[in-house]
Amino acid sequence: MNDVCETTGGFNDRNLPYHVPETTPELLDDDQKEALYERIAKLLKEKDAVLVAHYYVDADLQILAERTGGYVSDSLDMARFGNESDASTLVVAGVRFMGETAKILNPEKTILMPDLDANCSLDLGCEAEAFGKFCDEHPDRTVVVYANTSAAVKARADWMVTSGSAVEVINHLQEKGEKILWAPDKYLGDYVQQQTNADMLIWDGSCIVHESFKGSELEAMKKARPESKVLVHPESPPSVIALADFVGSTTGLINYAKESDAKEFIVATDRGIFHKMKQAAPGKVFLEAPTAGHSATCQSCSHCPWMAMNSLTKLAECLEEGTNEVFVDDEIREKAVNSISRLLEFSKARGHVIYGANDA
Ligand code: 13P
Ligand code: SF4
Repeated sequence: MNDVCETTGGFNDRNLPYHVPETTPELLDDDQKEALYERIAKLLKEKDAVLVAHYYVDADLQILAERTGGYVSDSLDMARFGNESDASTLVVAGVRFMGETAKILNPEKTILMPDLDANCSLDLGCEAEAFGKFCDEHPDRTVVVYANTSAAVKARADWMVTSGSAVEVINHLQEKGEKILWAPDKYLGDYVQQQTNADMLIWDGSCIVHESFKGSELEAMKKARPESKVLVHPESPPSVIALADFVGSTTGLINYAKESDAKEFIVATDRGIFHKMKQAAPGKVFLEAPTAGHSATCQSCSHCPWMAMNSLTKLAECLEEGTNEVFVDDEIREKAVNSISRLLEFSKARGHVIYGANDA
């Protein structure tokens, strides 16, 4: 039995209403990799560009971002960094909504992405027109959407939140007596509802990667390794969240691993995060939470097929040719910026510094 799948396949067997790419990682030897690193570093300088990468992309891209004065973090902190950067071009290695958020906050900057088709199942599962109808049917509710949505959905929202800020924002709205319409992740929505007791009407969306984690298999793994701590991203199903020693955003999970006395962790989120976790907590052991039963051909397929579409070669090409630029319609942008800015201002007013795990 393989420990992990290298190719991000299998998702299309689930009869999803959209196609999921099957991505095989780029195979490069050390010389090829160094040559690409050099070529990209030169291009970044020439184009006054900075590379901003998410924790879930391939480690090679994360290493390059840090080597060239760029940044690796969670989705909100990537947006903050891009916003504060002096560079005139931001290259976003992540998924589509991250590139769009960068453009919404920085309309004067050029935003490039290695692959514009790198999407997200939460974004794809919350189409703007259908979502608008849902909002129209519930005009008495405050519309709160997760960062993993299109610019058009954010334009319809009162608030955008991230996994690290959702509980606090919903608590704040609940204290003001507001009823919530939440989209798109139902598991994160359920988790937030339980934490806050807020009146929440929840859209039926999910992340195909986190949804794959299996509670029963995780329970068996936890029993076999009683010294391990279980770290869970709240996009996971309730049966998985119930077994967690810690539930948190990507940055929250890395910081917990760093600060905990435990030496071993079972991690229910995309395995791309292991690069930063190992950097933040050297010498500790990180294991993937199981995504399949004992009869399956592998134990874990916990890698986002869209994040896997980012590669060094595509990055070099988009910089060289200036292709894959992200554009957001002006009318949509002007509305969407309100829901994002509201969160940034809320965090600032509460003295929260929105920094990722970059002091690792
Ligand atoms: P973060 O907002 O924590 O970066 O997570 C984004 C994501 O896509 C989780 O699956
Ligand atoms: Fe979207 Fe899930 Fe991929 Fe995150 S891991 S980008 S939520 S599909």
